Amino acid sequence: MDVCREMRRLACRALTRTLFSDPAQARLTVEVEEAYTVLMPGMWWQMVIPVGLVHKAPLPANRRFARARVTARSLIGRMVAAYRARGAGLGDGLSLIMSAEDERGRGFTDDEVCDQIATLMIGGIPATADLLAWFFCVLSQDGTVEKELHGEADAVLGGRVPAHVDVSRLPRLGQALTETLRLYPSVSVLSCQVTRHVHLEGAALSPGDEVMFSPYCLHRDAEVFPDPEPLSPDRWLPGQVCQEQREAFIPFGSGTRKCIGDSYGMTEATLAAAVVMSRVRLAKVPGTPDPAPLLRMTLSPVPLKLTVEPRGIRDQGHQEAADGTTALRCPVHLAAD
Ligand code: HEM
Repeated sequence: MDVCREMRRLACRALTRTLFSDPAQARLTVEVEEAYTVLMPGMWWQMVIPVGLVHKAPLPANRRFARARVTARSLIGRMVAAYRARGAGLGDGLSLIMSAEDERGRGFTDDEVCDQIATLMIGGIPATADLLAWFFCVLSQDGTVEKELHGEADAVLGGRVPAHVDVSRLPRLGQALTETLRLYPSVSVLSCQVTRHVHLEGAALSPGDEVMFSPYCLHRDAEVFPDPEPLSPDRWLPGQVCQEQREAFIPFGSGTRKCIGDSYGMTEATLAAAVVMSRVRLAKVPGTPDPAPLLRMTLSPVPLKLTVEPRGIRDQGHQEAADGTTALRCPVHLAAD
């Protein structure tokens, strides 16, 4: 299985189901997911090749990207229109955005609602997907941690699908995900703009200057995180984390621009990892090289192909389809179910 691709599909599906819960719009929701599957990889190239002409050239990739952008916009527009026609809110993400008002009682225009949805999709899908991809990558390389986490998932869930209350009942999984974010922060480079004159390590900075910094490097600073290279979920045991580490650990950024989806992303990653782990094992293919970090919109493990091995599904009381397909289906589809 191409883990990065499957985790993107999973994160995309989780987010669209959170934003659009109207069963009457299920077809539109799937079409939005399909459009974003094309948009996500193309967006990186739009960012790093800032030459308009290159993107306007009639290349197949450009045409696919342009089509997907128009399609996504129009699908979300149709979704907004359907919600407006329905009247009553559904308590989902789109209903909340559509009912939001500023202090003067002014709500978003339809165009602004589309912008909000696009921002959440772009902010929410690749970062959570890469956290999950790195998590399964490190798990496939560390049998001890894997065994421990499988044990916790089995003991807490006993094969059932986890609910939101289970997130706090899976502390070891939380520590392993946090440690994965330390070693492989999905957003590995951040920037900020200086607002007043300041001296930083001998450099004089003026208002308007752009500063780039890297959570990836900060998280691997041996002065803050001793022996930083190996994966060690124990670092995050209660009482083990000091103030300096708390300040240096910034996988979601910090300050006013801190990620708005931090709790959502961690909850999603915990639940998805728990479902996958309690049903299947994602194992290394013998003889294949370890993936390396590849910087795109986010930091991805590439290439990451793992095999899907069932983990005593029958023992855990799962329903198996008459043709026995449950054990063979991709964990992403199991998770989404
Ligand atoms: C583990 C998962 C995630 C990680 C590691 C992550 C990380 C980040 C980081 C580092 C930033 C930039 C902060 C800054 O500029 O200082 C950010 C911004 C943002 N994130 Fe997340 N994020 C995650 C999940 C999510 C999810 C699930 C959503 C939406 C549901 C989301 C929505 C956003 C948005 C809207 C922004 C602001 C973008 C902007 O500045 O325009 N994120 N995230």
